[in-house]
Amino acid sequence: MDRIAIVGGARLEGEIPISGAKNSAIKLMAASLLSDQPLRLTNMPRLADTRFLGKLLRRLGAAVIEMDGPEGSETVLHTPEITSALAPYDLVRQMRASFNVLGPLIARTGHAKVSLPGGCAIGARPVDLHLKALEALGAHIDLNEGYVYAQAPRGLEGATIAFPFVSVGATEHTMLAAVLADGETVLENAAREPEIVDLAECLNAMGAKVEGAGSPTIRIKGVAKLHGAVHAVVPDRIETGAFACAVAMAGGDVTLTQSRPEHVRALLDAMAAAGVELDETVDTIRVRRGAGRLKAADITTEPYPGLATDLQSPFMALMTMAQGVSVIRETIFENRFMHVPELARLGADISIAGNEARVTGVEALTGAQVMATDLRASVSLVIAGLAAKGETVVNRVYHLDRGFERLEQKLGACGANVRRISGDQEEAA
Ligand code: EPZ
Repeated sequence: MDRIAIVGGARLEGEIPISGAKNSAIKLMAASLLSDQPLRLTNMPRLADTRFLGKLLRRLGAAVIEMDGPEGSETVLHTPEITSALAPYDLVRQMRASFNVLGPLIARTGHAKVSLPGGCAIGARPVDLHLKALEALGAHIDLNEGYVYAQAPRGLEGATIAFPFVSVGATEHTMLAAVLADGETVLENAAREPEIVDLAECLNAMGAKVEGAGSPTIRIKGVAKLHGAVHAVVPDRIETGAFACAVAMAGGDVTLTQSRPEHVRALLDAMAAAGVELDETVDTIRVRRGAGRLKAADITTEPYPGLATDLQSPFMALMTMAQGVSVIRETIFENRFMHVPELARLGADISIAGNEARVTGVEALTGAQVMATDLRASVSLVIAGLAAKGETVVNRVYHLDRGFERLEQKLGACGANVRRISGDQEEAA
C-alpha cells in the first residue's frame, strides 16, 4: 500500500488548479444510465471513486470512455441498453455512492437489485430516506440477503416527498428517479449543496424539467425520455477548502484557480476570523499567511450553505497550531472525529466531549507515522504534516486517492516537500 511522506516547514507559493467535484461527478455518471444517448462530462476528476463507478456502470451495460479533451479530462458514458440491473455487494461496498444507481435503474428499466451499502467509518449512514422516497414514487421495495429488490413494472409516478431532515444523497437519488416519473414530484426540505444544483443542470441539459435546485423545494416534471448532453462538472469545493487550509497551515501565498469561492463561503469566513488573508475573484481564491500564528476560531458543521462536514477535519488541522481554544462541533455524522487521535500523535492538544472537539493550539507539531480511516481525515493529516517539524508519514493513502486528484503533485508544485512512497517499491527494496 502506498504512503505519503511530508517534511514540514516549507512555505507554499504559486497556483493550485482545482479539479471537478468528486461528489458531483459520481452522481452525474449515474445520471448517464437514464438515457440511451451519450452523456459527455467535462472537467472530470480522475479518482479511484470515479474509476470504481465506471467499473460498475460497465457491468450494467455502459460504455465508459475516458479521454483528455481540449478543456482537460472528459468521460463519455453511453448506455444504449441496460444489460444488467444488478449492482453487486463487492462493488457497492467499495464505494457506497454506487447505491445511487438504484434510482436510475428502476426509472429506466422498472426493476433493479442493488446491494445495501452498509456502514462506514464516519457513521452508520442508513439509506432509509432513499428507500422511502423511491417507495413514494411507486417503487415496490423488498430487502433480502443484504440486497434491495425494487420493482416498478408500470413506471414511477410523481409524488410530494417531505424529507424529515436534509440528506444530500437522498435528495440526489430521488431526483435521479423522478425525472422519468409520470407527473410532478415535489421535494421539500431538499439539500441545497452545489452538487445538487450541478446534477439538476446536467439533468436539464439531458431534457429533464427540474426547477428550484439550490433551494429547499425542488419541483420535477417527469418526462418520457432523456437525451444526450455535454456537461462540465462543478469545481470541487471540498478540495478547494482543503487546499485553502493547507496553504494557511504551511504559510505562504497561493492562488487556487478554477474554483468557486462562493461554494466555500462558510469556511472562508472562519479562516478570515482566524486571521488568514483571503482575496477572491469569481473563480480564484488567493490565500496568504505570514509568519505570525493564527487565532483560534469556532466552527459548527451544517448542511449547505453552512460549513461542510467534509471540511471539519481540514479546519481542525489548521486550528491545532492557532493561538487559543477552538471549539469544533460536528452535527452531520456521529463518528467523524477519527482523525483526532492521529493529530494527537503529531502533538495536537484536542479533547472530545460528545459531538464537540476542543482544540487548544500548540506552538509546534512534530512529524510521526499516522493513518486515517477516511478520505477527509487523511487530508487533515497531510495538512498538519505541512507544518510539523520533521517527517510525517500518512499511511493508507488509498483513502486520499479516492477523492484528491494528484494531491502530492499539486502541493509539490507550490514548494511542499511531499512524496509518495509506493508499496511496490518498498516490497521490491
Ligand atoms: C454526502 O454523503 C457526501 N458523499 C459526503 O461526503 C458528505 O459528507 C455528506 O453528503 C454531507 O455533506 C457523497 O456525495 C458521495 P447525507 P451522503 O445523506 O449523501 C443521515 C466524502 O468524504 N441519513 O447528506 O451520504 C446520514 O447518516 C463524503 O466525500 C440517514 O439517516 O450524506 C447523515 O447523518 C463523506 N438516512 C445525514 O443523514 C438516509 O437515508 C446526512 O447525510 C440518508 C442519510
